[in-house]
Amino acid sequence: MSLITQAPRGTQDVLPDSSYKWQYVEQTALSIARDFGFHEIRTPVFEHTNLFQRSVGETTDVVQKEMYTFEDKGGRSITLRPEGTAGAARAVLEHGLINGALPVKVSYITSCYRYEKSQKGRYREFHQFGVECFGALAPQADAEVIALAMQILKSVGLTDVALHINSIGCPTCRARYHEALKAYFASYAETLCGTCQDRLARNPMRILDCKSPVCGEIAAAAPVMMDYLCEPCAAHFAQVKGCLDAAEIPYQVDTHIVRGLDYYTRTVFELVSPQGLVVAGGGRYDGLLQELGGPAQPGLGFGMGVERLLMVMEEAGCRFPAAPQCDLYLAPMGEAAVSRCFALATALREGGMTVEFDVVGRSLKAQMKYADKLGARYTVVVGDAELESGVAKLKDMTTGETEEVSLDGGLYTLLRQKTLDRELAGVADLFSNVAEIG
Ligand code: HAM
Repeated sequence: MSLITQAPRGTQDVLPDSSYKWQYVEQTALSIARDFGFHEIRTPVFEHTNLFQRSVGETTDVVQKEMYTFEDKGGRSITLRPEGTAGAARAVLEHGLINGALPVKVSYITSCYRYEKSQKGRYREFHQFGVECFGALAPQADAEVIALAMQILKSVGLTDVALHINSIGCPTCRARYHEALKAYFASYAETLCGTCQDRLARNPMRILDCKSPVCGEIAAAAPVMMDYLCEPCAAHFAQVKGCLDAAEIPYQVDTHIVRGLDYYTRTVFELVSPQGLVVAGGGRYDGLLQELGGPAQPGLGFGMGVERLLMVMEEAGCRFPAAPQCDLYLAPMGEAAVSRCFALATALREGGMTVEFDVVGRSLKAQMKYADKLGARYTVVVGDAELESGVAKLKDMTTGETEEVSLDGGLYTLLRQKTLDRELAGVADLFSNVAEIG
């Protein structure tokens, strides 16, 4: 039988040598979100298919071409979530949070699934950090979620990601815009791809987001929504910009941002790396909750691709915390020493130390070689003499220096002190990231 050793196309394994980087960006994002009053929500990886049809929209690429949809054993149509907003909105409605104190502010880290052409920075399984704010209509709410996204980037050391913003209006002003778009695209009807020919009648704005190069070229010269905004939408956009200006958050207005999902209204934004990769995207969706059968409450948020964020950080040479290391390798020699070392390792781990100990039954020489491979900072060998005296030698694996230490409380105290000193140095180093930003 042949080995199954290849993951499906468009998926990635996160191996132990890099998972700590994921934990770092995820914890940073969740913690900054908490500072802004957003608290974590966890929703299922699959939902009823019609949730995404109704929210993301029937004419989007995501719904038409990219969803992982299947019938479950009970005959229901189920879809793996292609994004995080719809599930969060559904949960906020289902559990009545929207009827409590407003706004409801949630954050999440989710895996998402889209059957896309896989390429660098575009996967079929990917992860989003996101926030959603339900029940806030004022323009300062838009500025707040944008500021949150920017602060996350800044705190991981990314200062050259550009903020692009646009307004795509509301259903009132969009009706007039749709007419203008239809008139424009009608003259290219024969040239558009099959999907866009259908979109021309049903939802011409979606043509602006088509990935086909031919449609893209035609769309580049199409009328822009900014020229059709109604007075309240234009005023809202002006106030969002006013807040960003006041907080000195630099941005550029990009009238070509339309976003690939149907629920957006008014403000939309994208954070774009110097290489042109969209690290995060979001905006307002004032009609979404109602579309899902809830009250007429507005909403807004953004999603940040974790894979893309890490990729851009690596390209920019951002610093990560040091890879986790083993504080101590305990090497027992003989049966009596094994149980003593096991008890010691358990006590030290309870005290927060990272301790490894021989679970393979290696010779002392092989254990030392393994400790070296692990990158253990210190080793202690425990044999009959150490068991009898209760004193052993703590060896610094970098300098080769040794010092005597009692196997009771002394080992813990000494190790704790050395680890604290190292942690403080690590924090100081990471903070220098922020200090450089100013
Ligand atoms: P989105 O623009 O489709 O928006 O995705 C948000 C982010 O997820 C993108 O900017 C990108 O970083 C990442 N992303 C999307 N597709 C892929 C992929 N195939 N591979 C890798 N990364 C990807 C949304 O999903 C909205 N739910 C965002 C939102 C939240 N809007 C309001 N609230």
